Amino acid sequence: MLINEKEWQTIWLDDSEKFVKVIDQTKLPHEFAIKDIKSSDDAALAIKDMIIRGAPLIGVMGAYGLMLGLKEDPSDENLERTFIKLQSTRPTAVNLNWALKRIYNLVKVCPLEERFETAKKEAKLIENEDNNMCEKIGDNGLEIIKKIALNNKSQKINILTHCNAGWLATVNWGTALAPIYKAHRIGINVHVWVDETRPRNQGASLTTFELKHENVPHTVITDNAGGHLMQHKEVDLVIVGSDRTTIKGDVCNKIGTYLKALAAKANNIPFYAALPISTLDWDIYDGVQNIPIEARSEEEVTHISGLNSKGYIEKVRLVHNECKAFNPAFDVTPNELVSGLITERGVCLANEKAIKKLYLK
Ligand code: MRU
Repeated sequence: MLINEKEWQTIWLDDSEKFVKVIDQTKLPHEFAIKDIKSSDDAALAIKDMIIRGAPLIGVMGAYGLMLGLKEDPSDENLERTFIKLQSTRPTAVNLNWALKRIYNLVKVCPLEERFETAKKEAKLIENEDNNMCEKIGDNGLEIIKKIALNNKSQKINILTHCNAGWLATVNWGTALAPIYKAHRIGINVHVWVDETRPRNQGASLTTFELKHENVPHTVITDNAGGHLMQHKEVDLVIVGSDRTTIKGDVCNKIGTYLKALAAKANNIPFYAALPISTLDWDIYDGVQNIPIEARSEEEVTHISGLNSKGYIEKVRLVHNECKAFNPAFDVTPNELVSGLITERGVCLANEKAIKKLYLK
């Protein structure tokens, strides 16, 4: 997608195809920096410290991380060690396990000397598939926006989104933002309400950055403003991403998504989750009870980062010295609050029968 009119994606193999390059998302929107990921340790750190984040991109980074581990040492012992090191970085986004298992199952049966090349080939495939799936999610979600535009006399379609499920969270296009880019590019008058998304502000820092460079009109709001806007008919549609969606259609996404779903339901506003197949968990049924929710550092809540008057990124404390904090990074929206799932295969209802019909046909 575009940054200063130039096409970018979030992750790519460098020309030697011996290491990986990523956009350092901890520096955005104030600084655009490319980071070299040269080892499996670098890859694990990039995921844990959220230099890259977003479920699909975490999966692709995991795949390349395993490739780098096999370059370091293709032995079975190191394959297991690197797998566990990457798997234990962040627990919620199911794409990570999906990608690691895909590479692992392929290289496990390979002679040692072929493991790096085999892993590289498959990791590139996962990268390209993600790119294609997200574009298809854009096309399928566009039909929902077109329908609303047809019935919407005001001509402007107000879409609310939470966190960043744009191209910065995938390889390209994004999930929740892909239909918005597609709509904007064909001249549909869309405006995006962007939840700031405390505590790490992925909405305020990343989603607004993306939308600005794609010239899509947008307004940042506090996470608590969405319900009020819905009551006052200022929201026509809610589209969010997902870190893990169960076979029942329960949607796990950034903390605060569940509250948006409740407000949307109460105000009869369609609430969609956009996701590729790599984000579906076929082994978990009840998401509220069984999806592992990452608990991140208290400091992410007690402090906040931003650009100070001297032009430097500075972290400041919000609370008194002894204040305790609790920081669950995700929550689960039960399927009954989800109007539908926007996938690369099409749009379906958030229930087991519809999901299986879409993917097992
Ligand atoms: O903690 P993050 O920034 O990795 O959380 C990201 C989200 O919750 C996204 O909405 C989700 O991963 C979907 S990304 C297409």
